[in-house]
Amino acid sequence: MENHIQFLSAAKVLALLDQRRLPEREEYVFCRTTADVVQALQNMTVRGAPAIGVSAAFGCVLAAWEAGALRNWRPRLKILLREILEARPTAVNLAWAVDRMRRLWKPEDSLERLLEIWIREAEAIREEDLAANRRMGAYGAALIADGETVMTHCNAGRLATAGFGTALGVVYAAMESGKNIRVIANETRPVLQGARLTAYELNMAGVPVTIACDSACALLMRRGMVHKVLAGADRIAANGDTVNKIGTYGLALLARAHKIPFYIAAPLSTIDRNLPDGESIPLEERSSQEVTHLAGVRIAPEGVPVLNYAFDLTPAELITGIITEQGILRAPYGQSIAGAFAAEPSK
Ligand code: MRU
Repeated sequence: MENHIQFLSAAKVLALLDQRRLPEREEYVFCRTTADVVQALQNMTVRGAPAIGVSAAFGCVLAAWEAGALRNWRPRLKILLREILEARPTAVNLAWAVDRMRRLWKPEDSLERLLEIWIREAEAIREEDLAANRRMGAYGAALIADGETVMTHCNAGRLATAGFGTALGVVYAAMESGKNIRVIANETRPVLQGARLTAYELNMAGVPVTIACDSACALLMRRGMVHKVLAGADRIAANGDTVNKIGTYGLALLARAHKIPFYIAAPLSTIDRNLPDGESIPLEERSSQEVTHLAGVRIAPEGVPVLNYAFDLTPAELITGIITEQGILRAPYGQSIAGAFAAEPSK
């Protein structure tokens, strides 16, 4: 599954494993234009914060090829980059990746030179994400004891990253170190990333996984069936406030009530140090159809309004630790996050 984001340079194509069709069908969507990439991000052909960032970086390369068809290509390229950056609002990895590419673009660069630089950079973003996941896995695995059951939400695995995964990377690393781990994957209404994607990839990897309804979390915790909660993140503020898939906040509250450790696993590219706290992180609201329809069939009455926030904010005080490639950060997060960036070569 490390090949779910394939950049085919000779064909000028970005091939994305279509996550909307999983687990039933393994099909690829072939992006040739900026509009294709924007659409794939918006309709969640590719999703998960780090995977969005990697795809956006390759999207910038496609945008350069597209704009390059014009004699005056630079203004057009600027517009196309903005379109990619604005495809989805919450996961900061998207803006982070586009900004990182943009910063390398010098006014005097020829198109050929820019393409050379950007292809190398997009590959570097992908490689760095994989390496970060591996390091997070190694740090996080030490937190999980042999025989424990981990509850996770949404999909923070191979499919959501360049490969290996953040929260699920910790599970894979714990398994690789010889521990027997079981996972409860919350189904994650309404897009069902847990039931469809997390269950699919864990099952393929031979990790024992059980799907639970989102509404069962409290019962499972009360019965002692959950030892740790591990979730990913879409954006973390400088004080540790964390935005992740809708339902994560409720899970954190339940974990606190049941004295169960609640960990976030995310690379530093998911931390937005421009934001002192999480209150201003934009929470994407998605189509009401995701809630009113199941597999294309309407299940709710026509005309009733829907609240479909795709993300929520978990306050830092509910988080036991943030697993990063620079180690496990603890409260006070303002200090530990600043320290992690100080230890990281700047990009
Ligand atoms: O709407 P999605 O599927 O893109 O949301 C994804 C999540 O919320 C993940 O938990 C998060 O991006 C972490 S992925 C390593």
